[in-house]
Amino acid sequence: MPNVYIETMGCQMNKSDTERMLGMLSSLGYEETKNPKEADLLMVNTCSIRQLSEDKAYSTIGLWGKWKKEARPHIKIGLCGCVAQQKAKEIFKRAPYVDFVLGTHKIYSLPDIIKLINEGERVCECTETNATEDDRAKNFEIKRVKSVNAWIPITEGCNNFCTYCIVPYTRGRERSRTPELIVKEAKDALSQGFKEITLLGQNVDSYGKDFKDKNYRLADLLKELNALEGKFRIRFVTSYPTDITDELIQTAKELDKVCEYFHIPMQSGNSEVLKKMNRRYDRETYGEIVKKVRAAIPDVTITSDFIAGFPGETEEQFLDTLSAIDEFELDYSNTAAYSPREKTVAAKWVDKYIPEKEKTERLARLNKKVQENCLKSNQKYLGREMEVLIEGFENHKGTNIITGRTRNNKIVHIPCDTDRTGEFATVKITDCKTWYLNGELV
Ligand code: SAH
Ligand code: SF4
Ligand code: F3S
Repeated sequence: MPNVYIETMGCQMNKSDTERMLGMLSSLGYEETKNPKEADLLMVNTCSIRQLSEDKAYSTIGLWGKWKKEARPHIKIGLCGCVAQQKAKEIFKRAPYVDFVLGTHKIYSLPDIIKLINEGERVCECTETNATEDDRAKNFEIKRVKSVNAWIPITEGCNNFCTYCIVPYTRGRERSRTPELIVKEAKDALSQGFKEITLLGQNVDSYGKDFKDKNYRLADLLKELNALEGKFRIRFVTSYPTDITDELIQTAKELDKVCEYFHIPMQSGNSEVLKKMNRRYDRETYGEIVKKVRAAIPDVTITSDFIAGFPGETEEQFLDTLSAIDEFELDYSNTAAYSPREKTVAAKWVDKYIPEKEKTERLARLNKKVQENCLKSNQKYLGREMEVLIEGFENHKGTNIITGRTRNNKIVHIPCDTDRTGEFATVKITDCKTWYLNGELV
């Protein structure tokens, strides 16, 4: 049997695509290996959100190209995902040892492509289809990574065109998958023993806006999934601030399986910068949305993303980002220094670029603020009893530990000698660290 190794970079959307591609490859007789040196087919599912992610993709295939040239001429190399969608045929010029380039719109062409490359052809399939579904999807199982959580995309693409972001160019226009398909995938995952469903999209709260034949939104989908039998959790990421409706907040509050967790990226704490980013809210509006969510849902965790050193960002404007994290008590945030991306509007503002040194320095201060607030947020739970879904079992410095997450997405470490992965446990929080909580079984 031929072996395939897939290296997955970037967001959960890519992880989900990898699980689908592994399903297709398995139907062709490929077996997954975790060791690239054993593989006959090597694929990298790439991310191009920042220059660094794109560079990582090239260095990975560069190494594989070397193996192919020096020792293993039979191996086939494929580059998929967001860098593929963006660069298409250009990849062949830069990396002539690559056998196929497969963009994000056409992953279901993979079986046809494999056939062609095994006949010695080179293939580039990066047509932008903006299709919602592909009939060929029905022919394959999804090879999900063994864990307690199953990722289910509900929307693809994005229409927002934030001026810094490449995603609308790599993933195309926003399109919602049908409720029938999502519910089917959820049922399949639950029957395979998954205990958590995470609905994925760049803007999950705009789910269904594009349905012409029905009025069916994220709240409706949550209700339908919540009604499925069994004990499991439901999460959804990412929420665009101004698309969070009152109905969604109420629904999330009322449904027992929907967890107390919202990821609502703010990007900057300064209204001027937000305007230049083409985000459709200002600092005050963001604050009101967060307050509304907190008022409705006790113990809710609200996380965000921030960019440091957006073109033209002044020191004062950057300080507004730090103060926003405090003012809105954001529990945790992903952070990044601004990275210019080809085709995007902000990348053209070269004269406004912030020097690298300044960006790095702002990012460090931002990370320090995130760290302080994360600890503060964790400390609220000292002494509390919380439900933890166990995700793993390991031996840490001589002690057996089970690790899991609370409903509001806090990581908890618990001493325990038996592997209880997949179980729900009641845990008393005994100690709070910056990135996790310690607890004991009750
Ligand atoms: N749809 C989500 C974000 C998806 S991209 C939203 O609207 O919030 C994930 C994160 O990458 C973004 O939230 C942003 O913080 C970061 N990001 C995107 N483009 C970037 C760039 N050019 N430079 C630095 N960070 C970027
Ligand atoms: Fe990118 Fe903005 Fe779309 Fe998020 S909403 S994916 S940041 S363009
Ligand atoms: Fe990266 Fe594409 Fe996701 S650019 S963040 S892998 S949508």
